[in-house]
Amino acid sequence: SRMPDLVVVGAGLFGLTVAQQAAENGHTVRIIDVRGHIGGNAYSYMDMETGAEIHQYGAHLFHTSNKRVWDYVNRFTTFTHYEHRVYTTHDGEVYPLPINLGTINQFFHAHYTPEQARRLVEEQAGELAGTDPQNLNDKGIQLIGRPLYEAFIKHYTAKQWQTAPEELPASIIKRLPVRFNYDNHYFQDTWEGLPTDGYTNWMERMIADPKIEVSLGTDFFDESQPWNKSALVGRVPVVYTGPVDRYFDYALGELKWRTVEFKERRYDEGDHLGCAVMNFADADVPYTRAIEFKNFNPERSGHQNPGKTVVWEEYSRAASRGDEPYYPVNTDADRRLYQHYAAKAQDEPQVVFGGRLGTYAYYDMHQVINSALIAYDKQVAPLLS
Ligand code: FAD
Ligand code: NA
Repeated sequence: SRMPDLVVVGAGLFGLTVAQQAAENGHTVRIIDVRGHIGGNAYSYMDMETGAEIHQYGAHLFHTSNKRVWDYVNRFTTFTHYEHRVYTTHDGEVYPLPINLGTINQFFHAHYTPEQARRLVEEQAGELAGTDPQNLNDKGIQLIGRPLYEAFIKHYTAKQWQTAPEELPASIIKRLPVRFNYDNHYFQDTWEGLPTDGYTNWMERMIADPKIEVSLGTDFFDESQPWNKSALVGRVPVVYTGPVDRYFDYALGELKWRTVEFKERRYDEGDHLGCAVMNFADADVPYTRAIEFKNFNPERSGHQNPGKTVVWEEYSRAASRGDEPYYPVNTDADRRLYQHYAAKAQDEPQVVFGGRLGTYAYYDMHQVINSALIAYDKQVAPLLS
């Protein structure tokens, strides 16, 4: 096949945004992805039995306060009025999150006013006030006091990291938000919603341009297929959104990630949790949270099966090679290693590294789209002129 103006490795939101921008500016683009579908981790599919839209790589909620990003995404999809709310089960009771006045009053069987609750939390946090916490456990107590920390944060965090909080660095949590009113609306961004006809249709429309061609099931490091690293780098501009350490064949060592495993449960009920996301704060439940996908799209209830539902339980653990890398572990050693890879990436001729894997960073969707729009203007467009 003819050489395009640009090759994009990875059909996630970073790659799709760059490809869309290039095509809009008159350039031909070849996108490749090793997976059998576009969309990267934002990909979703319809479950025929229940009518739920399943987010294959974990629950994805779109939210942003960035006007440029909001205007951009609205060119390709409208959004529902979904507002994200999360609940947590602790010691046989269900509480609202993030920790708010409702959580506090339920937990203490009280009717504190905002000011009384603020004073109580301050007093309880006073146990370690003024100390320099050396681990996550002490930091948690210092931020919100022992009772709330031990009920809602401690065991959840231990499950997320599969490590006792006493063994985790204090730096993992900067703050633990507590709201002294009854607002349990999860995100505080200007705009929020789910793509009206699903994530995958949204992302298909981003690349519905004849100048963009897509090769799925195609690994950039597989030399038996034409769109591979040695055939392309230095000959055509490349945007690479795969793992940066993999690009350099792990020459300096491996960057560490955490992954999430999903266990699917099907119930002969219309609604199992009564909400979209239920956390499990205690140690006796082995998963961190459960997702009931039907409840992300209540506006579709007329098309959903009233007698069946599907729930995914999430189990968090360290990723090894071959696992999906989800969250950067980001120790000081990882940060230093990434800086060395970033320097090598700078020197790659006509290759722009981007996205969460290419820059070893956790990005929400709106952040990755914003960074892709900027990268297109600043780094990619100059290579195409
Ligand atoms: P990705 O989506 O990972 O895309 C990278 C692509 O590169 C992948 O498709 C991969 O197959 C491909 N690739 C890798 N190596 C190769 C190779 N060798 N050859 C060819 N292709 C390759 N964001 C939100 O805004 N809200 C949320 O609620 C939210 N929830 C999340 C929950 C989880 C569990 C996770 C992991 C992420 C969540 N995110 C959420 C973040 C969101 O997924 C990312 O912002 C977004 O997917 C990043 O896009 P990307 O293009 O950088 O990476
Ligand atoms: Na480069």
